[in-house]
Amino acid sequence: MLNLKQKQFVSHAYDLFKKSNLTVGELKEANKKFGCKYAPQWLIKNKAYKVGKSTFKLPLNGDEKVISKPVETPVVKEKEDVKSEAAYIVSSLTGNIVPKKFGTFVSFGNHSDVRMIVKSNKFYPIFITGLSGNGKTMSVIQACAEAKKELIRVNVTIETDEDDLLGGYRLKDGQTVWQNGPVIEAMERGALLLLDEIDLASNKIMCLQPILEGSGVYVKKINKFIKPANGFQVVATANTKGQGSEDGKFIGTNILNEAFLERFPVTFEQKYPAIKTEQKILNNELKVAGKSDKKFVEKLTTWADVIRKTYFDGGVDEIISTRRLVHIVQAYAIFGDKMKAIQVCTNRFDEDTKNSFVELYTKVDAGASIESILEDQRKAEVSAQTEDDNDNESDDEDDTDNVSGDVI
Ligand SMILES: Nc1ncnc2c1ncn2[C@@H]1O[C@H](COP(=O)(O)OP(=O)(O)O)[C@@H](O)[C@H]1O
Ligand SMILES: [Mg+2]
Repeated sequence: MLNLKQKQFVSHAYDLFKKSNLTVGELKEANKKFGCKYAPQWLIKNKAYKVGKSTFKLPLNGDEKVISKPVETPVVKEKEDVKSEAAYIVSSLTGNIVPKKFGTFVSFGNHSDVRMIVKSNKFYPIFITGLSGNGKTMSVIQACAEAKKELIRVNVTIETDEDDLLGGYRLKDGQTVWQNGPVIEAMERGALLLLDEIDLASNKIMCLQPILEGSGVYVKKINKFIKPANGFQVVATANTKGQGSEDGKFIGTNILNEAFLERFPVTFEQKYPAIKTEQKILNNELKVAGKSDKKFVEKLTTWADVIRKTYFDGGVDEIISTRRLVHIVQAYAIFGDKMKAIQVCTNRFDEDTKNSFVELYTKVDAGASIESILEDQRKAEVSAQTEDDNDNESDDEDDTDNVSGDVI
């Protein structure tokens, strides 16, 4: 079997020359991409690959044993070539897939635990649940960046199926080839597989079951058993706990199979960052944009905090996520106008919510504290309730006059 680097070379050389029999010169040319001046020695020194004078056949199926032709065999005609290689396995990934560190990243919540698991290199699937936009995906990406671990991220949707995950036959340069899916790639490379937004999936992802147990998987379409390489890990993120979304907040989330969820030994609950942490994140964002403004950041986090408290008390239907706050400071860095930044970034909410959010920011901007705003809200609620009760009482009185009893 070829190792990863060799497979990458073969894939690249084939892509470059669109043929499988290459001269030493062509092999040299292809090897430049990998920073080498010479043709790969593992290929030209192996007689099994030699098909003519200074001509070598690329082991496109990744298996050197298949090529057993004697050295002097004449070069196979290209047409026959195509037929015999109809199902060679290609990798969709080449090069470095270790994520980069983000300059604005601030560690909080479960990040240190996630990083410890990633660094342990142990197979220990993690499920991270929490409201949208509070840093779940980012935490995993950064844990990999810090541990210099390769990461393959799959954005799961209701359409995600075995073909997307494990791989399938694809057309490549007029040939039908088997292309490994992200799960197989991650298993073979010993990378971390991030199944993002897994609760959007249907039961078509059940093929992941054996993989979550750490055992290999039999890919029936290529009749091959894939064993996970050392270091292979799985992390899933979701807005729910896989039980669906009762309040309808997360449209499209589904109830995940109980046995599937049982395969995750740990679940982390991701909360919004504490005010101070969130301020650090926003200050970093503004610093990078060359527009530091600590006062604005303080006000934004106060504003978000009031909205979150009200949301959890059932007072509003929408919430301001860390992601939205980042969008606001980015809009501010572009427009240089705080109110405009808040407006354009809250336009996505319905009219009433948007207006109340903007109005609330005006109060915060004028210097109101969290406590005073929440107290005002409570008072407004009580007076609305009293008015409501009074209305109901007078309605009752009206009813006595309303002989037919119709609701008017
Ligand atoms: N720890 C963090 N440090 C810096 N920025 C963060 C952090 N967590 C979240 N963010 C910001 O919030 C955005 C949304 O985070 P993300 O991880 O995509 O949320 P989730 O996956 O929970 O929906 C990120 O793109 C980033 O701008
Ligand atoms: Mg995410």
